Parts: sequence; structure tokens; C-alpha cells
Amino acid sequence: MNSENPQQVNQVVLAKPRSVVFANSKGGVGKSTLALMASLGIATQHPNSRVELIDLDVQKTSSESLRRFENSRFSVLENEDFFLNSGSPNNGNLINHMGSDFPYSTTQKYIVFDCPAGNEPSRSTFLMHCDVIFVPTSVGDADVFATLKYLEELRQLFGRQKKNLDGPPPPIVLLPNMVDSRDEFNELRNHFTNHAVYFGKPLYYAPVFRRAFRSDENDTSVATLLRQAKPYIAWLTKIIRRADELPQTPKKLFQL
Ligand SMILES: Nc1ncnc2c1ncn2[C@@H]1O[C@H](COP(=O)(O)OP(=O)(O)O)[C@@H](O)[C@H]1O
Ligand SMILES: [Mg+2]
Repeated sequence: MNSENPQQVNQVVLAKPRSVVFANSKGGVGKSTLALMASLGIATQHPNSRVELIDLDVQKTSSESLRRFENSRFSVLENEDFFLNSGSPNNGNLINHMGSDFPYSTTQKYIVFDCPAGNEPSRSTFLMHCDVIFVPTSVGDADVFATLKYLEELRQLFGRQKKNLDGPPPPIVLLPNMVDSRDEFNELRNHFTNHAVYFGKPLYYAPVFRRAFRSDENDTSVATLLRQAKPYIAWLTKIIRRADELPQTPKKLFQL
């Protein structure tokens, strides 16, 4: 094998999976919905990809509903090894899994984690090894307060884990969800102005999202969702595919 061959070099680079996580300690903010949109979005729009959805929620909303879409490029992984007996994530096994892929694979592998409500960053050091941490939030006070607390807990985790990382910590992208109006979006953003994180595009409230996990005939609901949310999904998947091009950790809130 000639290691100077540019194609070979390219293939070796492609073999590292890209891992993203949807996490927040708060339930009902859209973690599973967004993980579904991201994973099906990449798998359907990018033929040169393989997507693995890892559901870390014991309720298994994502994995049970999405299993029906499994094919050669999209898989739902359920593995007891990813959990400790306590139900917390098994960080060692997760980190090992994130680092491995077939050598010389020509397709880029993406790992999408759907985290449960109640996720505690202090018990989830695998978060530090992801390429992007997406934190969906909604506009209600309880959601905003929980999200602010979650950001603080992530900051503490980053501080503690710094010495265990070679490079910078993963970027954090807040995803404002279930937004009603532009005014509401601006109001939501104002809550986070003092935080050095990225702020995503708004995902507006729409009834179609309520039916995301339903397996109706011909999967009409999921197809409608993927169609209606196409521009948003294109934006989200672009962030995932080009995570390494995000500007360095922002000094203050940075609107994407
Ligand atoms: N943009 C949206 N518009 C309307 N409903 C939404 C939207 N995003 C999520 N939902 C709904 O809100 C509920 C909670 O979403 P889910 O993804 O299960 O949250 P989590 O995983 O954070 O607990 C679900 O019923 C889902 O269908
Ligand atoms: Mg969920």
C-alpha cells in the first residue's frame, strides 16, 4: 500500500467518527426530536455517510421509534455496555466506541447521542469527547433556568477535564426550540447573553413535531416533518458536518 496516495490518506482521515450529543438536564425541550431530525437528516441527505443513533434514555423514545428505519447507512444502537448498573453512562466504553471505526472506510460515520432528562455532566465525561454538544432549550422559564444551570455544570466539567484533553473542549450550541415568534426568540437569546456559547437558529413551534415518533402508514408523519423542516435540518446537519470549521470557542454569545 502506498501511503503517499492522496486517496488513501483521505480514507484514513475519514475513518474517525464524528460524534454529536443532544443533551440538557431538562425533559421536553426537544432533545429526542432534534436527535431524530439530525440523524435521519444526515442519513437521507448524505449518501456518503453512515449514522448511528445511540439512545442513552431508558425510556427509549428514539430507539424504539427509529428502529424501523434501520438500513445499511442508518443504525440504532442499544448496548448494555454503554450504561453502568446505576443507569449512568459508562464513559469509558462510550469514549472507546466513539474513537473506533472500520479502518479505510470510505464513508464518514456519524454518531448521534440522545441524552435523557436528568443528565448530569459530572457523570458524563464522554461529553468532552464529542465534536459538538447541542443543548436544546425552550422558552418557558423552567426550561430557561434549567438550561442556564446545565451550561454552568458543563462549564465546571470542562474546567475539571481540561487536563485530560489534547485540544479545546467541544463547542456548545444552544438550540432554541418551540419558539412562537421572532420577539420570543430575541427574548430567549437575551437570557443567555452572558454565556460564551453558540446560539442556533430558531426552530418554531409546529404541530408536525408532535407526531415525530409515530409509526403511521408509509411513515407519513416523519416524511412530512423531514419535508417541512428541510431548511432547518439542512442548517443543523451542516453544523454537524463542518463542526471543525466553527470559529474558536466564542468569547460571548455567538449567533450562528
Ligand atoms: N418545534 C416543536 N414544535 C412542537 N412540538 C415540539 C417541537 N419540538 C419538540 N416538540 C414536542 O415536544 C415534546 C418533547 O420533545 P422531546 O423531543 O421528546 O423532548 P426531550 O427529548 O428533550 O424530552 C414532544 O411531544 C415533541 O413532539
Ligand atoms: Mg428524549
